[in-house]
Amino acid sequence: MDDVDEPRPLPPLTAATAEDPVPVVLDCDPGVDDAVALLLALAAPELDVRAVTTVAGNASLDLITANAARVLDLAGARGDLPLARGAAGPLGRARRERDADVHGPGALGGLDLPPSRRAVAEASAVDVVARAAAERPGELVLVALGPLTTVAALLALHPESADHLREVVLMGGAAFCEGNSSPTTEFNLRCDPDAARRVTESGVPLRVVPLDATQRALVGPETTAPLLASRDARGRAVGQLLQHISTQRRDDDGLAAAAVHDALAVAAVLDPTLCTWVEGGVRVETSGELTRGELVVDTTAGTDGARTDWARTARVAVDADAGGLGRLLVDRLA
Ligand code: RIB
Ligand code: CA
Repeated sequence: MDDVDEPRPLPPLTAATAEDPVPVVLDCDPGVDDAVALLLALAAPELDVRAVTTVAGNASLDLITANAARVLDLAGARGDLPLARGAAGPLGRARRERDADVHGPGALGGLDLPPSRRAVAEASAVDVVARAAAERPGELVLVALGPLTTVAALLALHPESADHLREVVLMGGAAFCEGNSSPTTEFNLRCDPDAARRVTESGVPLRVVPLDATQRALVGPETTAPLLASRDARGRAVGQLLQHISTQRRDDDGLAAAAVHDALAVAAVLDPTLCTWVEGGVRVETSGELTRGELVVDTTAGTDGARTDWARTARVAVDADAGGLGRLLVDRLA
């Protein structure tokens, strides 16, 4: 299927500033790294978080939404910040179960946060995002940190949102590296390949933060230690969250280090220079017996002699500043 509309030019890749905060909606499935991403975003004066929406992925929608509320309380988010429920699973299919140990007890790495009394919006995530985008036409950035079911539903039910959104920044895919869900696929995209395909074909400018970048921005003890020693409860919580995922990965010299996938996606909005970007057209495989959910990147899209007829609507992070994310987390949360 070709792009629905004439593709829009990619927006400038500029750093956010506290003087002119970027309006964002965070769509997430907390999830340990989602929780770090939420705490980072809500501590950043450069971002104006307009709403948080939840999507099933790392756990059920109920647990994900309860976790999001707990993290918003820890973050000190204002009481009227909209928190809306999104998709309970891929359209028409059961949710792909995540190995429980990936995100640990309670899907927050065992982090013990008190239950929240925060109200969940009556409106759906789709309607909350559509409304937020319409309030700031051309300015709102939708940061997608889980499966793209809700984002695809937004574009289908509110086609005008494709023009209202400045950009969709999404954590997902394995562009030129191995996957973490199968040899060629990453968890978020593999959860709902059809939704991801719809998003890649929508013509909305995309900033894709795949495993190629997140697995090069590992954070280690030099980040975790100051966070754990922080006087700020948010910093200590992030330290504990990083400890949970550090146990699952060791960097080259064997030190515990963590890939904080979703936090890098938020960091890339704050400071795009943390990543190395290539431009191109992107799609997601939806029928491959072995590769369903694979991110496919055509860096020649839109150029003379292009290998596909895909529009040049995406930037894809192919590398990241290894120490940059850790320094940002310590600077903002310790
Ligand atoms: O593959 C990494 C992604 O899957 C992250 O968003 C993480 O939270 C998990 O959902
Ligand atoms: Ca996530």
